[in-house]
Amino acid sequence: MTREDALALYRSYNSSESLYRHALSVEAVMRRFATEYGEDPDWWGIVGILHDIDYELYPQEHLKHAPDMLRKAGVDERMIRAVLSHGWTICSDVEPMHRMEQVLFTIDELTGLVTATALMRPSRSLSDLEVSSVKKKWKTKGFSAGVNRELIAEGASRMGMDLDRVIRLTIEGMRTIAADLDLA
Ligand SMILES: [Fe+2]
Ligand SMILES: [Fe+2]
Repeated sequence: MTREDALALYRSYNSSESLYRHALSVEAVMRRFATEYGEDPDWWGIVGILHDIDYELYPQEHLKHAPDMLRKAGVDERMIRAVLSHGWTICSDVEPMHRMEQVLFTIDELTGLVTATALMRPSRSLSDLEVSSVKKKWKTKGFSAGVNRELIAEGASRMGMDLDRVIRLTIEGMRTIAADLDLA
């Protein structure tokens, strides 16, 4: 499956622009972490594009329909497992075990916190966003309250990576597509 195939498959089930930006954000961050770990950025990126494929149509049954959608399109079972694992403890019982799965689990919601933090800045840009700004917002309970900090911290510890470094790599990944996110 190519990136174009994955985008077409995603778009065949989704039309929301904000969800599309989320998919692109997670893709970009997955690619950044793959490079960091010496893994295949194309493979990791595709998992990022597809991870929320059933969310727009089935928000109350998230990940219940994704396996069918992905299998019908011939997506690799390892990718399907990875997609399912990002909802572990919330809407799936597939535990993130592989490194790729642990990264996806960790950065999914973190991309939302990074976006929200960037939007608070006068520049509304990722280019000058620092880890410390995200950490400050992390500690502000009422800010982006929907972002589950505990889950992100749990993911980082599973990855065996310091939270600051996870945030830094997430910012770096999102910077590569800042223009597409309107955060340039
Ligand atoms: Fe999700
Ligand atoms: Fe997501």
